[in-house]
Amino acid sequence: MIIKDNIDIAHQMEKEIFPHYDAYNNYLDTFKKDSNNDFWIIEVDNTYVGIAGLYSFKKYPEDAWLGWFRLLKPYRNKGYGSLALKMFEEKARKRSFKYARLFTNRYDNDDVKRFYEKHGYTEEYYELESEPASLIYPISIYSKSLIEGETVPKWNNKDIHFTKQVRK
Ligand SMILES: CC(C)(COP(=O)(O)OP(=O)(O)OC[C@H]1O[C@@H](n2cnc3c(N)ncnc32)[C@H](O)[C@@H]1OP(=O)(O)O)[C@@H](O)C(=O)NCCC(=O)NCCS
Repeated sequence: MIIKDNIDIAHQMEKEIFPHYDAYNNYLDTFKKDSNNDFWIIEVDNTYVGIAGLYSFKKYPEDAWLGWFRLLKPYRNKGYGSLALKMFEEKARKRSFKYARLFTNRYDNDDVKRFYEKHGYTEEYYELESEPASLIYPISIYSKSLIEGETVPKWNNKDIHFTKQVRK
């Protein structure tokens, strides 16, 4: 888990993994008393290979969101991403969430989209007039039920504060 002791390492990795974004404020937010969000460093044989997180919206307590999930380049296509995704789903199940969700770029992102589809996630577009960023940067939401045999309801364009996140 990203805690005060390793936040500097996480920040270094984060800059390498997401050179065009800044997740640091999201890590800091998890230290707040009322936060239910966690981020963790993915470690394989004592080597840091990536970062992932679980966040949720208080208004939608059944849905666990996979956040800032990324592996460093040399560690991709070795099965670690699949393991890390399963770990996220397991953490979410343990915390009694019913559905796993995430968003990712809708275009020029075929490998990542195929990765989530292969793991049972289904795509829907996120487009909302009140979310200007969703019209400028097209994203898709991917969803999967965490309960065996149950289909996941669509997210149906409920507000995920994407514009606020883009500005963060
Ligand atoms: C998306 C991502 C997390 C997936 O993680 P990953 O570790 O690369 O995923 P996996 O290795 O489990 O699976 C990817 C492919 O590698 C293959 N693979 C798995 N183990 C393998 C191995 N030992 N040798 C060769 N290939 C392997 C899988 O079969 C899969 O291929 P397929 O989709 O053609 O079937 C990672 O590639 C990544 O960080 N990408 C860029 C960042 C990004 O966009 N993240 C998502 C933001 S929402």
